[in-house]
Amino acid sequence: MTTQLFVPKFRVEECLEHVRECLEKGWTGMGFKTVEIEDEWKRYTGLPNAHFLSSATAGLHLAFEALKRKHGWEDGSEVISASLTFVSTNHAIKYAGLEPVFADIDQYLCLDPKSIEEKITEKTKAVVFVGLGGNTGQLEAVAKLCKEKGLSLILDAAHMAGSRLHGKHVGHNVDVTVFSYQAVKNMPTADSGMICFSDEADDLLARKLTWLGINKDTFARTAAQGAYKWKYDVEDLGFKYHGNSIMAGLALVSLKYLDNDNSYRRQLAKWYRDELESEEYITVVPIAPGCESSTHLLQIRVANRDELLVKLNENGVYPGVHYTDNSEYEMYKSCGRCPEALRASDEIISLPMHMGVTQQDVVKICNLVKEYSR
Ligand SMILES: Cc1ncc(COP(=O)(O)O)c(C=O)c1O
Repeated sequence: MTTQLFVPKFRVEECLEHVRECLEKGWTGMGFKTVEIEDEWKRYTGLPNAHFLSSATAGLHLAFEALKRKHGWEDGSEVISASLTFVSTNHAIKYAGLEPVFADIDQYLCLDPKSIEEKITEKTKAVVFVGLGGNTGQLEAVAKLCKEKGLSLILDAAHMAGSRLHGKHVGHNVDVTVFSYQAVKNMPTADSGMICFSDEADDLLARKLTWLGINKDTFARTAAQGAYKWKYDVEDLGFKYHGNSIMAGLALVSLKYLDNDNSYRRQLAKWYRDELESEEYITVVPIAPGCESSTHLLQIRVANRDELLVKLNENGVYPGVHYTDNSEYEMYKSCGRCPEALRASDEIISLPMHMGVTQQDVVKICNLVKEYSR
């Protein structure tokens, strides 16, 4: 048995049709299919704005950059963040000249509102909540706290394509949500993402910033009439963060299958839970009440994590770890040490989770996990 953590499922023929259409039209860049995926994503999530990007990392940077400009936050202002995340979350805060301050996590491996409250100072301007593995954790309580304290709330929804809370797609109770459609995410392309602001003015600013600060994109200029259609102004020091039509074509196909794929992931998670939940040495990370998780990850906790990983590898199973506590990294060692996150960082394993895993695979993997965990 060789069971990898992630194997993306591409509907190859449908993807190729979109790519062919782009190539035949001679339009592979921004516009054309990027407009289509933005419209489809708004329809699917019910979110009011959506802008297609080259990655979620770019999106997180843009989110902090746009909110910083809008509110006039000074350099060095603080953003309360998670240490148990991919470094993109915290790099993006720093790209915008802001400082991450780590708060601790709860049993869902998401930020704990009590810990956030303890970390608020007069320099705090925002909170970034990471929906780890698709879980909504205590997002509602965090949104309420941010409202009370006048803080902006950014949702790092890199794992949350298709995650719903009380039946509604995530992103409705925050200032901005950033999704990832990176190669091994549950809605895969190769590299791309989406940024969804609640405020249209922020969306308009972000659109300008993703295209180098130029006030008219090439697609709009091509559609325009008259001799001056080549003219534009540069109003800001923007970035090159927009998505392209090839990736948008792959995203349109992945989106079509997203709910089906996520249902299968939830079925896999149920099989894992049925096998492991009653085991003495194993904790399966719970899903928050009201959350229908995308189930990008199925995470368990064991005391002998490193030893178990070696044993699983020896038996052809290759799980992952999401993530090492960022305060263990040189870059982030001064952002605060959080005991629960550090403990989780030593105990967590993400088990194989993709459309190619079968019920028999789950049973075999769980038998190995049971045999070697202590
Ligand atoms: C929690 C989290 N945030 C952000 C990102 C960045 O996503 P992207 O690869 O699309 O830049 C990732 C990607 O792994 C992630 O896991």
